[in-house]
Amino acid sequence: MLVLGIESSCDETGVALVDAPGRELPRLRGDALHSQIEMHRAYGGVVPELASRDHIRRVLPLTQAVLARAGAQLADLDVVAYTRGPGLAGALLVGAGVACALGAALDRPVLGVHHLEGHLLSPFLSSDPPEFPFVALLVSGGHTQLMRVDGVGRYELLGETIDDAAGEAFDKSAKLMGLGYPGGPALSRLAEQGDPQAFKLPRPLLHSGDLDFSFAGLKTAVLTQAGKLGADLERRKADLAASTQAAITEVLVRKAMAALEQAGLQRLVVAGGVGANQSLRAQLGAAAGKRNVRVHYPELNLCTDNGAMIAMAAAMRLAAGVQAPTRSYAFDVRPRWPLSQLQ
Ligand code: KG4
Ligand code: ZN
Repeated sequence: MLVLGIESSCDETGVALVDAPGRELPRLRGDALHSQIEMHRAYGGVVPELASRDHIRRVLPLTQAVLARAGAQLADLDVVAYTRGPGLAGALLVGAGVACALGAALDRPVLGVHHLEGHLLSPFLSSDPPEFPFVALLVSGGHTQLMRVDGVGRYELLGETIDDAAGEAFDKSAKLMGLGYPGGPALSRLAEQGDPQAFKLPRPLLHSGDLDFSFAGLKTAVLTQAGKLGADLERRKADLAASTQAAITEVLVRKAMAALEQAGLQRLVVAGGVGANQSLRAQLGAAAGKRNVRVHYPELNLCTDNGAMIAMAAAMRLAAGVQAPTRSYAFDVRPRWPLSQLQ
């Protein structure tokens, strides 16, 4: 069964084709991605209307490229999957509209996918796929959540951020330091040359006893620290970046380990853009090693938004029988859609 996946929830247009050969895990047959980062850079962040218009420009050429790469034709598709939410409404509508138009034209069923479920299941496309059950640490630009995952569609929220997401903390701190957009990768690059203990920054909710996060105070602390440094900021920027990264990653690692303990599980899956952070990976690896915990990641290029995770989640939902595709092409999108509400 060939599933086409279309992702357009934010600033990346992603299209991919997976092959779901019955009992085995689906395989990636081809994928293509267009990142809008260059276009949004001039504005210091994502401009939703520009994002939607660019998705319109990219989605069909990317689909053609994916099919060509996989040596497949439109007529070979069995299901067309798309990101139904959460994300930017206008951007989501592009992917949903194109997927449903393709479905109607080809007389194939369509399936709307939850973006975070895509991230959550993306490690199943890696060379070292996890097994259920596991604890998932979802760290993207909009979400920071710890989930217990017992199977496809069986997600229990263990804890989440009460304000900013981890990716947002990276992005906003980077912006305060004048590192531009997107801030996460820039801040982490600069942090490599800095001392993570140079500045004492808060570790919010580290000892709260629950599995929730709070990152909004961190950017204020970074701003205060930058203000104190004044003209010295330029010289100490790498130290401030390293200290910021250390504050974010320490909380993520400690809470992830606490979640595993609470759930009585020895397997962790890390997904979402911040999962690409090398310092987070190193610290998770060290903490997991001490506890005999195995950590699984998506391939590095599938950490940030992509079409493969959407096609994969659709294929896994179909295989698990938790969602039937539909031939009703009247689509809607869900810009706000908690994963816990997913059926
Ligand atoms: O999952 P994603 O691509 O999009 C959302 O669904 O939000 O995540 C994007 C987030 C951004 O906040 C970005 O700064 C962050 O992931 N990010 C990183 C790194 N690469 C991406 N943060 C820290 N270190 C990185 N290497
Ligand atoms: Zn994402």
